[in-house]
Amino acid sequence: MDSARPHERPTAFDRMLTPVHRWIWSDTDRRVQKLLRFSETETDGGRDILRAAEVTSDPLLRRLYLEHAIDEFRHGVLFRHRAAALLKVSPSRSNPGFHGDWLAPGGHGFDDLQVDGESDSDMLAFLHLSEKAAASRFTVYRDVMQHDAPTCAVFEEILHDETFHMNYTLTQLVRVEPERHRRHLWRARLSRLWKAYLRLATGLAGILGSMLLTIQYFVLLPPFAWLARRAARRERSGWTMVSPGQSDSLDRQY
Ligand SMILES: [Fe+2]
Ligand SMILES: [Fe+2]
Repeated sequence: MDSARPHERPTAFDRMLTPVHRWIWSDTDRRVQKLLRFSETETDGGRDILRAAEVTSDPLLRRLYLEHAIDEFRHGVLFRHRAAALLKVSPSRSNPGFHGDWLAPGGHGFDDLQVDGESDSDMLAFLHLSEKAAASRFTVYRDVMQHDAPTCAVFEEILHDETFHMNYTLTQLVRVEPERHRRHLWRARLSRLWKAYLRLATGLAGILGSMLLTIQYFVLLPPFAWLARRAARRERSGWTMVSPGQSDSLDRQY
């Protein structure tokens, strides 16, 4: 697909995180892992958009969604091939650790997409914001990958398509909902914000839970361990005689 408008500029937030992204992408192992994950996200996104093409009753949208889905599948293949080429040059050593996925969950954020039951306008608003986010992040990734020309070229090529996706979804949203397209965009923005908050809150809850369990382990458990040891010391070792008469009943232990 051809882009009719210039590339999206990265958001202030993505620009601010450029040094973090530069550090994350500087390691070859991390780069391979991220490319493989992006490949999965793009392919999954393509599958969802293919489903959107099946359920829409608008012939123009169906054709655009089909082309869009083909683009996303192709992005998945491009990312996977680049990861494979990097692996050939430098086989993965071990788990590369921090990937910063919570900073940019798979580029698009297609994970939140629920195709069935969505109206065309809600779908277009969601896709527009997702593609805008992807275009912003991929611009930063392309810029920090100047030292790796083939990976930089992959981002450049994909960015071209993402910019077109961002533009056509907005144009179609305005066509489908000429009066209320802004309302749909705001609703989609709030929904993304809410889901981002839930992701952050879940991550924070995980960290706080681990901290509380560690504190409990070191603060609450030692007194119980000490009491258990003291009780064990008081126990007589070996068999203990039970006084006659206490063991007559077959219904209870003593
Ligand atoms: Fe894509
Ligand atoms: Fe896209």
